[in-house]
Amino acid sequence: METMKGKNVLITGGLGFIGSNLAHECVKLGGKVTIFDCLDPRSGGNRYNIKDIAESIQLSYHSILDFDQVSQVVPEKDIIFSCASSTSHSFSMREPWIDSDVNSKGVINLLEAVRRFNPKAKFVHLGTSTQLGKLSYQPADEKHPEFPTDIYSANKSVSEKYTLIYSKAFNIHSTAIRLSNVFGPRASVHSPEFTFNNYFIGLALQGKNITVYGEGKQIRNVLYVDDAVSAIVMAAQSEKSIGEVFFAVGDEHFSVAEIAEATAKHIGKGKVVYVNWPTGKKAIDIGDAILSNKKIKKLLGWTQGVKLKSGFAKTKTYYENCLEEYLR
Ligand SMILES: NC(=O)c1ccc[n+]([C@@H]2O[C@H](COP(=O)([O-])OP(=O)(O)OC[C@H]3O[C@@H](n4cnc5c(N)ncnc54)[C@H](O)[C@@H]3O)[C@@H](O)[C@H]2O)c1
Repeated sequence: METMKGKNVLITGGLGFIGSNLAHECVKLGGKVTIFDCLDPRSGGNRYNIKDIAESIQLSYHSILDFDQVSQVVPEKDIIFSCASSTSHSFSMREPWIDSDVNSKGVINLLEAVRRFNPKAKFVHLGTSTQLGKLSYQPADEKHPEFPTDIYSANKSVSEKYTLIYSKAFNIHSTAIRLSNVFGPRASVHSPEFTFNNYFIGLALQGKNITVYGEGKQIRNVLYVDDAVSAIVMAAQSEKSIGEVFFAVGDEHFSVAEIAEATAKHIGKGKVVYVNWPTGKKAIDIGDAILSNKKIKKLLGWTQGVKLKSGFAKTKTYYENCLEEYLR
């Protein structure tokens, strides 16, 4: 990846799983990083995530819902990564107003601050594969229609559209990367509210049962976080990404049961058990989700570098010394 030497980089949600891994990479590439995060207690944010780079970054503890504060950090940034989000599908069904505020209005605040105060910045938004809902053809590409089955995914779809509207209507250099079940260091592994595979990893690391709903036959994509970060950085650095949406997903797909069994095997602890679907979960499950990464490979030259087994090994090594930081 190209250097970020001399570049001012803003990462909203930089205390979270993806944002903090991205912050580490941007610091490594020489970027001057500002993290803007309100450490929402319902999210996967964690101060421990930035302990190794705390001296090298600026930290602004504010919400993206506060337009005045957003307007203060947006000017003079070369790259703005929009990672702040309310990230629980289940929470969005219980508290749709909060989800809508953060995942929709919060992104408008960022885009509007970019339009008014820094229209030359590159703006990279993170979306989710679940925006598509149940797939009508597979592998699904970026042209697949979107019929999300939960409020979080619907609001992510809306904020992605805002991102593209600002590109077309106002010439903002924006792009969106859609992710799917990213796993690895610095994830919130203690709660089933977030990505299921990180929760499986947390259970395995504690030697607990890994609970799979039903038979776990649904097909999913999983991606090691370093590969997600490389896709996000490449999108920021390429002119070809402007006004475009990309799936940053792995080459291989696995059933949920296979992912659970692989977790227990490679983490070396935990036992997979199959339980009935809890009320409410089945209704928002999207079934099989086979996704295509052809576009990001062709346009940006991105490739997946870390396969499942080595991703588990790296993840295990990370949590070996700090698991307790992620269990509270
Ligand atoms: N993790 C995945 O597998 C995955 C999959 C698809 C999409 N995504 C997207 O990637 C992005 C990052 O996800 P993550 O897994 O790192 O989530 P995370 O929950 O770990 O991090 C989200 C961060 O946003 C912050 N935040 C929440 N509300 C905020 C607000 N109002 N103002 C400022 N900060 C706020 C939180 O404090 C937290 O640090 C999100 O946009 C998410 O939708 C992630």
